Amino acid sequence: MKKRILTGDRPSGKLHLGHYVGSLANRVKLQDEYDQFVLIADVQALTDNYEHPEMVVNSVRELVLDYVAAGIDPKKSTIVLQSQIPAIAEMTVFFLNMVSLNRVLRNPTVKAEIEQKGFADTLPAGFAMYPVSQAADITAFEASLVPVGEDQLPMIEQTREIVRKFNNLYGETLVEPEALVGEFPRLVGLDGKAKMSKSLGNCIYLADSVEEVDKKVRSMFTDPTRLKPTDPGHVENNPVFIYHDAFNPNKAEVEELKTRYIAGQVGDVEVKQKLAVAINTLLEPMRKRRSELEQDPEKVNEILRNGVEKGREVSAEVLKKIKQAMKIDYQF
Ligand code: TRP
Repeated sequence: MKKRILTGDRPSGKLHLGHYVGSLANRVKLQDEYDQFVLIADVQALTDNYEHPEMVVNSVRELVLDYVAAGIDPKKSTIVLQSQIPAIAEMTVFFLNMVSLNRVLRNPTVKAEIEQKGFADTLPAGFAMYPVSQAADITAFEASLVPVGEDQLPMIEQTREIVRKFNNLYGETLVEPEALVGEFPRLVGLDGKAKMSKSLGNCIYLADSVEEVDKKVRSMFTDPTRLKPTDPGHVENNPVFIYHDAFNPNKAEVEELKTRYIAGQVGDVEVKQKLAVAINTLLEPMRKRRSELEQDPEKVNEILRNGVEKGREVSAEVLKKIKQAMKIDYQF
């Protein structure tokens, strides 16, 4: 039997190139070798959007389009809508006993998000506990591998701790997963900020048009010490060259541009033009797959229906094992 992958995203906006190199590219690559489940984590998205559920709901179909566009093939991978899988909610309740409140609040990713969202005294308990429900997401599918971006590593660590505690207490039941981070675990933003992120407004989205990509690349932050094309430039930590490394498959062209840049023999304009071409070449097949699926809303329904059906089957079996292990598989 193929080993399982479980990974996912919150439906709270469009996927961008940071998602692609951090995790999506791995999912596309591994979907033949693994039995892959990709979770649309709408319940998790509600932990900080519960006042506006329509924002979450409206993003669900968008995410399906992004997945298929990126190359996740619904014939190979199962796309599962989290809220439709009751076993995950039940498992979350059991797992809450497997972790201390202090441990959850020490999770560095959650801590950073709490600060960024300025929750302070209004921190919803559900939000603080979402890593526990994420442990349920992963274990409900007996996943051994979780392709994610770097920011998700604390979640996988927490899942591993919960699994070990559960297995120690109730006997070997749950599969302990490992994280797999992509080649570019954290992609710098267009503005040179540490991370490409929707809230920072420094993204190229998978759904961007050729014109949008051209315009965004033209606006990119480069080497601030370089005032004219004849000044010797820096390629390290230069977002334009980080992107060339990430998205331009023509390595010879990248090396040649770097050499000329360092020597002060090429302007930003040419470096950026070639980058925009590379990114548009990557996105072109995605645009095609997206527009095909966009024209077939019933196909999106079918993908969601099939995913929910298969997701319920697999997770119900795991929940049964959990209840047996915990001795709450009453017979009366
Ligand atoms: N927390 C992830 C994010 O914010 C989304 C997610 C939910 C997830 N459940 C998951 C990722 C399970 C990997 C595995 O992007």
